[in-house]
Amino acid sequence: MSQLTIFDDLRPDHPVLRTTDAEAMARELAAIGVQFERWESPVELAEDAAPEAILEAYRPYLDELMGDKGAGSADVISLTPDNPNVAALRTKFLSEHIHTEDEIRFFVRGGGHFVMHVNGRVYDAYCEAGDLISVPANTKHWFDAGLAPRFTALRVFSDTTGWTPHYTGDAISERFAVA
Ligand SMILES: [Fe+2]
Repeated sequence: MSQLTIFDDLRPDHPVLRTTDAEAMARELAAIGVQFERWESPVELAEDAAPEAILEAYRPYLDELMGDKGAGSADVISLTPDNPNVAALRTKFLSEHIHTEDEIRFFVRGGGHFVMHVNGRVYDAYCEAGDLISVPANTKHWFDAGLAPRFTALRVFSDTTGWTPHYTGDAISERFAVA
């Protein structure tokens, strides 16, 4: 189940709030500019549905989301433990970074932790199938789906060049082993 845990950034062992309530998650995350929604009527998909079929199935939702965000394109990313690049991909997004555009994800299958670092607090949002999260440009964050990641997510882009991670150099994610 999706869950939000909030910490003081100096105290990884003492959460100040933990909730699985979607409304509470949305409220707490909205306070730092992060959009969170749990979509109640997702689409039925075959377990082996190809990326094109996933995009097609979600097209009405995507069109609305892309319209809201002024986004120009979307794709599907899948990661499973047998991917040969799994370790490199984990490392790429595990260090604290920002992007110059919003990071918008909708989880179709599986899940992972989006962890935002704002105003001395760490917001660990575990997202899973049915969850939409939109992290604003220039918000410090990292992503962790653990050593055996398993997820499929829609990615929505306004500018694909903005999706490059710019690392902050802060080793904070090493203190917050969330997955
Ligand atoms: Fe990111």
